[in-house]
Amino acid sequence: MYTTKDLQAEILRLKKENDVCILAHAYQTQDILEIADFVGDSFGLSQQAAAAPQKTILMCGVRFMAETAKILSPDKRVLLSHPQAGCPMAEQLTAEELRALKQQYPNAAVVAYINTTAALKAECDVCVTSASALDIVRRLPQEEILFIPDCNLGGWIREQVPEKTFHLIKGGCPVHMRITEADVLAARAQYPGAELLIHPECLSEVTRHADYAGSTTGILAYIQKSKARRFIIGTDNSIVQHLQFTYPDREFYPLSCACICRDMRLTTLVDVYRCVCGTGGEEIVLPDELRLAAKKSIDAMLA
Ligand code: 13P
Ligand code: SF4
Repeated sequence: MYTTKDLQAEILRLKKENDVCILAHAYQTQDILEIADFVGDSFGLSQQAAAAPQKTILMCGVRFMAETAKILSPDKRVLLSHPQAGCPMAEQLTAEELRALKQQYPNAAVVAYINTTAALKAECDVCVTSASALDIVRRLPQEEILFIPDCNLGGWIREQVPEKTFHLIKGGCPVHMRITEADVLAARAQYPGAELLIHPECLSEVTRHADYAGSTTGILAYIQKSKARRFIIGTDNSIVQHLQFTYPDREFYPLSCACICRDMRLTTLVDVYRCVCGTGGEEIVLPDELRLAAKKSIDAMLA
């Protein structure tokens, strides 16, 4: 039987031998983060995918992240770590439905959260991540914004950019939306004095209680600077464990035990091992026309 350590050592050897760059979203498990070349949120991963010198990119995350890497690196082999790892939010709207919305709001800039299919990215003006959304929306010349698909993130941006008019749809992350205001009240009572950090994919009645609201990286950066010793974490619970490893002398509590993304949890260390061996994962293939159309909106974000 292999141990975690054995497998990690083999993965590190094979990724070098087979010229593979391992990118891992921060919601992956600790054993995977330890062997990744880069760990980050959706924005950081898209930047790293574009910069990676290796011939193969292994995306440990969900399908839209691997698609984004392929859009930016068409000449590289891009593997998704587990073929069934999707993001339910990415498919909440079809390209036809988006075209109908664009006709309804012809003057609006179409802003797509990066958690969308390539077909939706091909229809929008600019992609955003939770880390870049606020800044990009503020800078857009248009006064009207059609934001898809996450109405919670869209609503959070709307509050901070009151000078613009927003059109939102009924989409969002089914995992972050499991956190309730009752969870906030219970956690505040259970952990008095702890700072409450919340991802803006949560419902507005949850996010409004936050001491800090922001993307995964934003939350991590906040903790690094904070003088507090105790934190309640309102995002995927994997972050609680990663923070415990990083700061064993501080205390981290999940805001809700229900905030666990099943898709992010599908990839195991053995899946990663099989991918670097060349026998696992799924190679992402995108037709050129779709890829180039989708690339415009990602380039607009990176610019
Ligand atoms: P970020 O990685 O941009 O914080 O988004 C969170 C998320 O839900 C990713 O799927
Ligand atoms: Fe999608 Fe939510 Fe899972 Fe992120 S946490 S991959 S947005 S379902």
